[in-house]
Amino acid sequence: MTQARPRISKAVIPAAGLGTRFLPATKATPKEMLPVVDKPAIQYVVEEAVNAGLSDVLMITGRNKRPLEDHFDRNYELEEALRRKGDESRLSRVQESSNLGTIHYVRQGDPRGLGHAILCAAPHVGNEPFAVLLGDDLIDARDPLLSRMVDIQRLRGGSVIALMEVDPSQVHLYGCAAFKPTDIEDVVEVTGLVEKPDPAEAPSNYAVIGRYVLDPAVFEVLRETPPGRGGEIQLTDALQALAAEPGLGGPVHGLVFKGRRYDTGDRGDYLRAIVRLACEREDLGPDFRAWLRSYVTEEM
Ligand code: G1P
Repeated sequence: MTQARPRISKAVIPAAGLGTRFLPATKATPKEMLPVVDKPAIQYVVEEAVNAGLSDVLMITGRNKRPLEDHFDRNYELEEALRRKGDESRLSRVQESSNLGTIHYVRQGDPRGLGHAILCAAPHVGNEPFAVLLGDDLIDARDPLLSRMVDIQRLRGGSVIALMEVDPSQVHLYGCAAFKPTDIEDVVEVTGLVEKPDPAEAPSNYAVIGRYVLDPAVFEVLRETPPGRGGEIQLTDALQALAAEPGLGGPVHGLVFKGRRYDTGDRGDYLRAIVRLACEREDLGPDFRAWLRSYVTEEM
């Protein structure tokens, strides 16, 4: 009988990017703090990790990222002011973000790519599988992805990535996978990966989206991975090495996700994410949808 693998408890969230696509908003504010309706984007991501049972979160930050730490910390002055006003509902909204698991921070002094950011997590993670969540991808809480990836990793070992079918014209924006089927319908075995390929050279139109469950062998591979696309150390290249040589850290499986994903890394997609999520909110949705309907018919 195979021994049950220990439950994964650590999540790594790279948050050191400069957010240049959102300048000037991100001149003095980290892009992760931009609101999606009324919550900073990063809070959705931390909540997703915690809801998948990963209560130990490590954020890889950089300079000018102090607001992230403040957001996940208590704010006694504000809490006291709300308490004095008797505003219990806002008080609990303010406290939510400081009650989410344990959050650790490490700085990526030198921004040398996503692979390098993950390598900064090695001392904290140690020798156990861990999850990585990229902040630009928001996954709808109603469509569980990460918890299934954790289950697949426990079952099959190695690493698990999330894949999503995209229009072939979009593959150059993503890591892109070659794979073969397994006995589980939406789980594939990854045989190759290319970071941001030209459409003509893409192995498929299945894109890597920003959720990973990784075997710690990835650290050793990353240490040896030379700069790739864009002169940066790419996580995709390290995963390609793992997929090509399962003896290094077990197989790489892909979970094909068909749920709702919102991309907040691009201005247009960010606006669409806000509109979609606002429409679905119980408190804001009814009024907002009615306004949107009349705006679209009358103004456009
Ligand atoms: C990163 C990864 C890429 C992946 C994407 C998902 O790229 O390098 O493989 O497909 O995230 O969002 P980025 O969007 O940070 O350039």
